[in-house]
Amino acid sequence: MSATAERIAALRAEAEDAIADAPSTAQLEQLRVTYLGRKAELPNLLREVSQLPAEERAQVGRAANEARQALERLIERRARELDASELQERLEADRVDVTLPGAPPQPVGHHHLLSATRREMEDVFLGLGFSIAEGPEIERVYYNFDALNHDPTHPARARTDTFYVSEEVVLRTHTSPVQIRAMEAAPPPLYAIMPGRVYRPDSDATHTPQFHQLEGLAVDEDVTLADLKGTLLAFARGIFGEGREVLMRPHYFPFTEPSVEVDVSCFACARGTRPDGSRCSLCKGSGWLEVLGAGMVHPNVFSHVREHGYDPERVQGFAFGMGIERIAMLKHGIPDLRLFFDNDVRFLEQF
Ligand code: DAH
Repeated sequence: MSATAERIAALRAEAEDAIADAPSTAQLEQLRVTYLGRKAELPNLLREVSQLPAEERAQVGRAANEARQALERLIERRARELDASELQERLEADRVDVTLPGAPPQPVGHHHLLSATRREMEDVFLGLGFSIAEGPEIERVYYNFDALNHDPTHPARARTDTFYVSEEVVLRTHTSPVQIRAMEAAPPPLYAIMPGRVYRPDSDATHTPQFHQLEGLAVDEDVTLADLKGTLLAFARGIFGEGREVLMRPHYFPFTEPSVEVDVSCFACARGTRPDGSRCSLCKGSGWLEVLGAGMVHPNVFSHVREHGYDPERVQGFAFGMGIERIAMLKHGIPDLRLFFDNDVRFLEQF
């Protein structure tokens, strides 16, 4: 073999290795220039074939041509390989994981303070074995007043104190009518709380035409005022803290006898005096916070549900009712009832 043919074979071998190993399309293009470009050795040898001695010409010419064609095919093949793998790499690098959470995370809302307070109160009573009952907000006069032993002339019945839908139908002024409905629905023993919305035509810093109450009713054999006090003590401690005490003061409600108003010892001071010696503004120095009304169920109330198993000779009951707003205001030091219903997030976000 002539020296030129040997040089062609060596060049071809060298170029084949380099092309097979080319790591990228860009470097492959570089190799094409190096081995087959205008100034490259192999094409130059081909151009100079005519100057070779006659006996070498055919052999060298063929070898150089074959080498050039072989390298061109090799470059095409390698280019396709690289294209495919570079596309694959780009696809992998660009892959979007649609299961990842979106960023930034959206702020999550929470319950309105009144709902959170209602649930907290419900939790305490559920823990004591009470269940939850509900009744209609548009209520019959019978349930709202008559069955609850309100005298026909009771002032709460006045058009100025109650929203009337018709002569016989009102927007309930309290959750107490649910007591009657709960007793109609199930015989004793009954241990139920009844949270819900109530309505009265009042509007100022401490009254809104619509607000919320939580009623309680326990009817069983041998239920006493001491059971009421123990239940309310557990409630006071569950909501306002372990150290709380409760105080019952005589009062009047048509549907309970005896009736009491119940205070919880102030959680912001000691007997009306703050640690710094000043008078407590929450309890006005009294050491007690008025939180609810309660009492023993009046026999006249049971007489309306006697046929449902509530014989006043056989069962006794205690009942209580309180404002959910009032509990939340005391607990969180909220000065104005209307803040609950303004829906200003700067207020709501604080809780
Ligand atoms: N219904 C009364 C009110 O709205 C609150 C109340 C007082 C409920 C005494 C009771 C109770 O169950 O025994 O003012």
